[in-house]
Amino acid sequence: MDLHYFLSWKVALLLLLAPCGLQCMSVHVLNEEPVHVMPGKQLFLRAQIEHGPLEEVSSVTWEREPETGMTHERVTLATCPGRSLKCAGTRPNVHVNMEQQETTLEMNAYEAADGGVYTLTVTDHRGAKTTAQCIVREYEEVHHVSVSINASHSTLVCGEAWGTDPHFSWLHERAAITNSVGRVSKDGTKLLVTKTPICGHFTCVVSNELGHSSATYTAAPCEAEGRGTIAAVVCPIFLLLFGGVLAFLLWRRHWHSNRGERLHEHLDDTI
Ligand SMILES: *[C@@H]1O[C@H](CO)[C@@H](O)[C@H](O)[C@H]1NC(C)=O
Repeated sequence: MDLHYFLSWKVALLLLLAPCGLQCMSVHVLNEEPVHVMPGKQLFLRAQIEHGPLEEVSSVTWEREPETGMTHERVTLATCPGRSLKCAGTRPNVHVNMEQQETTLEMNAYEAADGGVYTLTVTDHRGAKTTAQCIVREYEEVHHVSVSINASHSTLVCGEAWGTDPHFSWLHERAAITNSVGRVSKDGTKLLVTKTPICGHFTCVVSNELGHSSATYTAAPCEAEGRGTIAAVVCPIFLLLFGGVLAFLLWRRHWHSNRGERLHEHLDDTI
């Protein structure tokens, strides 16, 4: 009787100490989703397992299934069964590790086909399963960039069809955009053109860690400015040439008259 009383007190105390009760196993993947992996590089997933004082992890399984498509076939990548939780991978480039409250999955030489939804299943001592999922995708280079114009709003829009973590920048006639040309939106995808009329070549460059791709919108040539620039360059050259010739003529006249005077003086002396 005493023993029974003691045990029930112990259970009550444990319940008080564990606010979520006896069943509070939780699993979280700690990577930020979606996880992007460069081809040929390493995929590293980390998950945290939390459980109540009376719970015990009896097995851990990492699986993968395609993110899209008809076949939702799950492939087991590794399991860590039994009390020791010694993990066994099903392929040579996968290593899974299990510690007290953490499990990690390492996959070397990642390929596009390794993308998908990764599911981590933790089974407790009574067979109850808790799962966490994480989307893994290949880090893709930027391609198929295009630029279109929204004429009514004097805006150029840079559309980027594919690519991971795109970073946008704009050029006008291959030079950075100045305030006299336009303003780039905060996310970089749009250019509000303040220059009127809209003229010249506008290029949108989209880049990420694997490289860059660009597209150019060609408006009518900037004629007025073109002529202005030519005039601005050619006029000073003409003025300089004209000034130079004038100075030379003046100098020559001066020299000749000086020489004439000196000749006179010489003649005077000899006479
Ligand atoms: C032009 O931009 C405005 C404002 O963003 C938008 O409401 C409008 O639909 C756009 N027009 C075209 C043709 O895309």
